Amino acid sequence: MASARTSVFRRKSSGFIVLIIFVFVTLFFFYDKEEIKHESEHPNAPNVARLELLRSKKGSRHKDDFEKEYPLLLVNEQLVICFENGTDYRKLPYITESPPTTEQDPLTTQRNIRRLLPTLHRTTTGDAAEPMIYFVTPTYPRREQIAEIIRLGQTLMHVPYLHWIVADDTDTCSQTLNHHLKKFGIPYTQLASPMPEVYRARKNAPRGVANRRAALNWIRTNGKKSGVLYFGDDDNTFELKLFSEIRYTKKVSMFPVGLIGDYAVSTPIVRNGRVEGFFDSWPAKRKWPVDMAGFAVSLEYLALSPNATMPFRAGYEEDEFLKSIGLKLQDIEPKANNCTEILVWHTQTKSSKAPTVRISMDRQKLDRLNLGTVLKQLETMGVNRISETEGTTAQAIVEGSVKPLSYWFS
Ligand SMILES: *[C@@H]1O[C@H](CO)[C@@H](O)[C@H](O)[C@H]1NC(C)=O
Ligand SMILES: *[C@@H]1O[C@H](CO)[C@@H](O)[C@H](O)[C@H]1NC(C)=O
Ligand SMILES: *[C@@H]1O[C@H](CO)[C@@H](O)[C@H](O)[C@H]1NC(C)=O
Repeated sequence: MASARTSVFRRKSSGFIVLIIFVFVTLFFFYDKEEIKHESEHPNAPNVARLELLRSKKGSRHKDDFEKEYPLLLVNEQLVICFENGTDYRKLPYITESPPTTEQDPLTTQRNIRRLLPTLHRTTTGDAAEPMIYFVTPTYPRREQIAEIIRLGQTLMHVPYLHWIVADDTDTCSQTLNHHLKKFGIPYTQLASPMPEVYRARKNAPRGVANRRAALNWIRTNGKKSGVLYFGDDDNTFELKLFSEIRYTKKVSMFPVGLIGDYAVSTPIVRNGRVEGFFDSWPAKRKWPVDMAGFAVSLEYLALSPNATMPFRAGYEEDEFLKSIGLKLQDIEPKANNCTEILVWHTQTKSSKAPTVRISMDRQKLDRLNLGTVLKQLETMGVNRISETEGTTAQAIVEGSVKPLSYWFS
């Protein structure tokens, strides 16, 4: 009996402890959820904002302080245009009916069929029959950069009347990036838009902000007041239908983005054809809890807010930008079939460290093989590193046996 009662008591008290733990965990969970954004603008970025947001929340910041720390105005910002070409030199990659010629298209190895496609060959400034899409891509030097740009560029090659603004987070103009951008034949502008050092030092650096601000600056400097602005990161997947959906945006259009946060989607909530709310796993007291890739803005509408910009505040870029253009709920047009279709995905790319390949022989010898060119190219892109003294020793395989690279030079 006594032992039975003890065990009942034990069960009760352990139940009580479990309850207390449960309450604590629940409280922590709800508190924590507000603090951390589901993910960041770029792959590889650390969980955005934990420390910073905790700090800013606890400090219950004054409005003036907020504006000092996250200035919206374009102060001392310079526009560094590295390269641009407003003419559309695209060749459609997949048509092979034209008679064989000796000329090889360097990008597609398809034949030059431009003469069959007069409609694509237009200039940005010309009498575009359709509104131009200004597709803004923030990018930054990393191993995956060029691979991402190629993938995105080949999507954009299918989209007529598009001007691609690629803003790179660098002080200097990347020749390697330009070499690849040029090949698509898409009208483009390459900007160098480094993140200010003061923000770079932060734990939750606001990535992509300097880039997008530079693109806004370019749009204003060039007096672009018709067409549509869209922020498309280099690690997203875009279904081609997205472009015809956003092209005729009147003020601001919105649509679902897949692979976002704990709901795996961020989307407006639409009833009877109108946006009435938002579905996003990171509310964080945002008025406009949307993903960067989940909206498009007409340039006519943007021009009404000459001071509109994006703050250097990780996690709040979309919200503050949309506030700065004075958006109202009733101005939002739901796209993608009343927000029932997912036309853009935050795919992200898994990032890993560049491996070091050890080649202890004279590298110039490798130029007699293809290996010299291939390895040099990857090094330029930051995909790998070559060292004489460390890393994984480079070897060759010949008829199933491993040989040293010197095999070809002995
Ligand atoms: C734009 O690109 C085309 C094709 O590469 C080239 O022929 C043309 O000279 C370029 N225009 C400018 C302004 O660089
Ligand atoms: C969206 O819903 C509204 C109201 O139900 C309807 O009138 C409209 O045709 C729908 N739009 C599309 C593109 O299906
Ligand atoms: C934009 O900012 C400038 C400088 O602060 C200010 O004088 C101007 O009134 C602002 N314009 C609008 C439309 O808010």
